[in-house]
Amino acid sequence: MKFYRHFSFAFLWVLIGGSETFLLSKGGITSTFIRNEEKSLDMPLESDVFRIPSGYNAPQQVHITQGDHVGKAVIVSWVTEDEPGSSTVLYWRHNSSNKQTANGKVSTYTYYNYTSGYIHHCTIHNLEFNTKYYYKVGIGNTTRTFWLMIPPKVGPNVPYTFGIIGDLGQTFDSNRTLSNYEMNPVKGETVLFLGDLSYADEYPFHDNARWDTWGRFVERSVAYQPWIWTSGNHELDYEPKIGETKLFKPFLNRYHVPFKASKSTQPLWYSIKRASAYIIILSSYSAYGKSTPQYKWVRKELRKVNRSETPWLIVLMHSPWYNSNNAHFMEGETMRVVFEPFFVQSKVDIVFAGHVHAYERSERVSNIAYNIVNGRCTPVKDQSAPVYITIGDGGNIQGLASNFTEPQPAYSAFREASFGHATLEIMNQTHAFYAWHRNGDEYSVQADSLWLYNRYWYPMDDSTAKS
Ligand SMILES: [Fe+2]
Repeated sequence: MKFYRHFSFAFLWVLIGGSETFLLSKGGITSTFIRNEEKSLDMPLESDVFRIPSGYNAPQQVHITQGDHVGKAVIVSWVTEDEPGSSTVLYWRHNSSNKQTANGKVSTYTYYNYTSGYIHHCTIHNLEFNTKYYYKVGIGNTTRTFWLMIPPKVGPNVPYTFGIIGDLGQTFDSNRTLSNYEMNPVKGETVLFLGDLSYADEYPFHDNARWDTWGRFVERSVAYQPWIWTSGNHELDYEPKIGETKLFKPFLNRYHVPFKASKSTQPLWYSIKRASAYIIILSSYSAYGKSTPQYKWVRKELRKVNRSETPWLIVLMHSPWYNSNNAHFMEGETMRVVFEPFFVQSKVDIVFAGHVHAYERSERVSNIAYNIVNGRCTPVKDQSAPVYITIGDGGNIQGLASNFTEPQPAYSAFREASFGHATLEIMNQTHAFYAWHRNGDEYSVQADSLWLYNRYWYPMDDSTAKS
């Protein structure tokens, strides 16, 4: 495998008092890893990853996510195609013969000329922390059994590892990304998913059968570990031409989240605690201006976070605030203007976003001083600010966004147009190791990494370009 990098430095000319002064502004790294930029094709319907499990009315598209605020509950979801069957989950602790049941609900939805299978959602409550459980769905001769881990009790020094994937889709590259995540020696325990799941809306009439194939494709991971869902623009499914005007209809029918546990009024923005992390999930495609429900909720939510209990404050959203790629340039700007001062005030550690089909990591910067007349409209180094990571490079049908703005801005620490996934290993209250793993030709390569220092407990300079 052949690749190389170069360092690109941004040169900034500034005119002061009529005399020309030359300032050297050091931008970060633009990786020039060379790869095929052809758009990736969706895997054909007959691909083995889309195979329907055998047996009459077999549960398929099984997926789990956190079911309460602290991680003691799990939402189990699946689809049956032939008839409703049962929405009950049978579950038991590892090494225990005491089997218990939880009852769920079943529903269907239509989208233009498509009618969904029977979608089951069942929340299992009051599970024991740090415990492995088995769970079984289906009835009669067609049942399927999976297992899951309930995370350790929430607390300040609880190590935990997250995987981070965005904009996955269902191409051959998507499959590489998921396989690389699964085979990564750094074992992610939960995926933070940054929106844009199936890309079914790329098909005529948003062919919702591609939601089903996506559900079967990712089952091999999400049936065994929770994926934390963020909504993206490909979940909007707004198509008035065919009478489909209910926003997020397929997504909200298929993917349930525990939004009520964090006093949210909508499943599109909510929070969870997991191990030593407090995770806030925002919706880039819902109203967030002052006085909107999302705005009010975020303001309250940030005040609620107790860093003595959960030292790591992480925010997920789809559209990035700091993006030096020409794709989707400035799309996150209005949300940044609304929320960034609160993020800095609250010392958010990391913001993960997707949307741009490339990888980029920022330095700790903020851009909150500007007031229209003072001219202070350039991001400045700020040790209270989060690191912004854009990782919309799961590998979907739209291909890579390889056209970065030049010169690379000083706030941008590293950027590369490649597919991949990331891992975040929280070690303790103060240190976390973050790495981005590029999809290589046959295996994944750790192409960007750094130690992140907690903003509340250890706010030391962890930037790439220390100056
Ligand atoms: Fe997107």
